[in-house]
Amino acid sequence: MGRIQVLPGDLANQIAAGEVVERPASVIKELVENAIDAGAKHISIAVELGGKKLVRVEDDGEGMSPEDARLAVERHATSKIRKAEDLGGIATLGFRGEALPAIASVSHFVLRSRARGAESGTEVRINGGAIASVTEVGAAEGTAIEVADLFYNLPARRKFLKSDGAESAQVSRLVTQLALCYPEVGFVLTSGGRKLLQCPPVATLRDRFYQLYGERQDLVEVHRESGDLKVVGYVAALAEQGPTRGPQNIFVNRRIVKDRTIAHAIINAYSVASIKERSPEVHLFLSMPPTALDVNVHPTKAEVRFRDQSYVHEAMRRALGDALGRGPAPELQLAPPNVQQAPLGNLPLPTSYGGTFPSRWIPPGAWTARGEEGTAAPQGAALQPEASSVIRPMIALGQFRDTFIIAVDEEGIAIIDQHVAHERVLFERILERLTTGRMESQRLLEPLLVELPPAARQALVARSAELDRMGFELEEFGGDAIRVTALPTLLRREECVGAVRVLAEDLEGLDRGSRVEEALKRIAATMACHAAVKANYPLTAEKMAHILDELRQTAYSTICPHGRPVMLRLTRREVEKNFQRI
Ligand SMILES: Nc1ncnc2c1ncn2[C@@H]1O[C@H](COP(=O)(O)OP(=O)(O)OP(=O)(O)O)[C@@H](O)[C@H]1O
Ligand SMILES: [Mg+2]
Repeated sequence: MGRIQVLPGDLANQIAAGEVVERPASVIKELVENAIDAGAKHISIAVELGGKKLVRVEDDGEGMSPEDARLAVERHATSKIRKAEDLGGIATLGFRGEALPAIASVSHFVLRSRARGAESGTEVRINGGAIASVTEVGAAEGTAIEVADLFYNLPARRKFLKSDGAESAQVSRLVTQLALCYPEVGFVLTSGGRKLLQCPPVATLRDRFYQLYGERQDLVEVHRESGDLKVVGYVAALAEQGPTRGPQNIFVNRRIVKDRTIAHAIINAYSVASIKERSPEVHLFLSMPPTALDVNVHPTKAEVRFRDQSYVHEAMRRALGDALGRGPAPELQLAPPNVQQAPLGNLPLPTSYGGTFPSRWIPPGAWTARGEEGTAAPQGAALQPEASSVIRPMIALGQFRDTFIIAVDEEGIAIIDQHVAHERVLFERILERLTTGRMESQRLLEPLLVELPPAARQALVARSAELDRMGFELEEFGGDAIRVTALPTLLRREECVGAVRVLAEDLEGLDRGSRVEEALKRIAATMACHAAVKANYPLTAEKMAHILDELRQTAYSTICPHGRPVMLRLTRREVEKNFQRI
């Protein structure tokens, strides 16, 4: 007899389970995705002991006939694809025909299902992959599946499960994500009889977002369509305060996805706007034709492959760039702030998501821009999208204490920190310049010597290539000194020593392995800070106009590279309200 044998079905299923089923949350993902594929409008999920003892998922979808119920638990049995070509444009969440048999092979499994309009239902019981019974039963229309004692027959796997609390947290996170993808489906999640989540079906993503996250003034809306790629969602606004980490929910064609291209685009978009490292909260929904991506990459379908990766990257980066640049300038208030919060109805999230979405995504008026005649924006409208950049042409009226520019436009009065604003402008210019080449440099007739401690000297020398691109030429001079022979034209000679010291300090704080761009950005931020007009410095009208004009053209004009606000605004509404003109 040969050495090679075909594995028995049970064992093959258990091996498949190793890929698809990692923990209770992954069981729930498969069962809920099946329910959604079956057209369910309501899905309830119950877990006991974090799902380790029991997971139950019930839906009101199309259900299964007795034959289908029996076949559903067979390996490679699916109603979702028929032939190889179908793999090219998958429109359902499932397609592998693997989930149910895999789950049934590592649990005590009960499936009860009744097809819509059928007289009675079918119950299939399976223990560790072996069918125990198939019977006709009375059942509600739809499907209910119970998965008890997950991994009871694979003790090694069971040991890897976390505490009940930790598993339960994973389950909540997952159900939240699924609920975000399918606002038109109602979800209920209970754990040990306690209701953790309940969202009735709603018409829009905005409504679902509110059900799950409540009012969120700290997020900005993303909305961009380029070709047949659409990106919508909410992301953390750029702000000095606030957490630098948050949940990152990314969905592609209503699938929960982890993707490096997208993750990279997010980091990129935030790092252009600020030098602070962050892993911001994002809820992003991408949609594209099914043929533009391959979902058959990963057993749990957690990864996808884009046909045109760089296009997706660029579109994401721009979508985020637009949204972040549009973040509102902090508003000044004359009276004590009105604590009454805006109903979420004012939060714009204007596009439909996916082809199957109800068309009524934009409530009438949701797009009313702040400041349109006769449509005074409601309270809390700071998130209202603006047709162009937040910063419209403004007229400088003068300076306050030689430090702040006072300016006006039709919509309000602004106080601009002249140093921070100029710094922002220069920072952008420098980075822009660097994408096409190096900064202009001027040779010093008389080299400058800067004395520095050894670590600081080291840090400068280690980054001499980047400094060179910025227009600095410097070298170790022996002793404690660094000799500077050329400077960026942007800097004046008297600023040089100070700038080099700060640069050294900045670069010293940078990890040795940090990317070149990171170092360049730090250098750019330091240079911008040194070259920008200072506080307590009188400005001519022309200079003020110039700063305002440049500022308006920068994409991220509401905060400086270090995260400080550029301007405060007193809105027209606020002024009118306080003079009792409304
Ligand atoms: N809740 C449900 N309601 C109706 N039919 C279902 C339900 N769950 C499963 N089915 C049927 O059982 C089949 C097998 O389900 P299973 O999850 O094993 O495979 P799949 O969804 O086709 O592919 P994948 O392995 O990628 O999930 C499905 O194709 C579907 O026809
Ligand atoms: Mg499935």
